[in-house]
Amino acid sequence: MRIDILTLFPEMFESPLSYSILSRAQDKAIVDIVLTNIRDFATDSYKKVDDKPYGGGPGMIMMPGPVFDCFEYVQKLSPEKDRVIILTPQGQKFNQEKANQLSKEKRLILIAGKYEGFDERIRIGLDAEQISIGDYVLSGGELAAMVIIDAVVRLLTGVLGDEDSPKDDSFSSGLLEYPQYTRPEVFRDMKVPDILLSGDHKKIAEWRHQQAVERTKKLRPDLLKNENFRSEHAGD
Ligand code: 6GU
Repeated sequence: MRIDILTLFPEMFESPLSYSILSRAQDKAIVDIVLTNIRDFATDSYKKVDDKPYGGGPGMIMMPGPVFDCFEYVQKLSPEKDRVIILTPQGQKFNQEKANQLSKEKRLILIAGKYEGFDERIRIGLDAEQISIGDYVLSGGELAAMVIIDAVVRLLTGVLGDEDSPKDDSFSSGLLEYPQYTRPEVFRDMKVPDILLSGDHKKIAEWRHQQAVERTKKLRPDLLKNENFRSEHAGD
């Protein structure tokens, strides 16, 4: 997969991309992540990329020119068919299903805007999908882009070892993950449930499923309203 990121703050991505799974995925050439600075496409001597909103109001709006020029430059860097995403709180809410979908693409182009928003002609002209990571406002799309990249890249084949395959993740089944324990067997008077020490894999699987269902009912009943979940787990 190739991921292009258009941003005014490429430096913000350096640290998150340099550790752990995201770093390993790049080292193994499973993903190629390329940052391009929108400001390099400003046309005036002040490198201006934003301006006041027509009609008045607070804040500064990303101008269409530099974003379009940057996008057209980036798009030509690879012949692969792309899926274009603008990060904005007005977008569709990101979730595990969306992460799964995006992980099947060969190329993503993510556009992160700073300031109070994008000129509407950016959304219209680029015909891009808009994604939000939740119902709160961030000061820019950069952190949201990093969240999406992390969630997507860990799903790519070869990034995680078999032993930590994403199939048991919270949400992949529509349920939260079951409780996990490691050594020691007793910690501050809290004991690991006997069933996990029993060696009975069938019973363990049943217990885990039942725990996942109970935990989801208690902590995230909204997830149980999901249609897919209802049909898959009817009778739980
Ligand atoms: Cl994608 N951008 C911004 N600025 N704020 C957000 C967001 C995105 N998702 C949630 N809040």
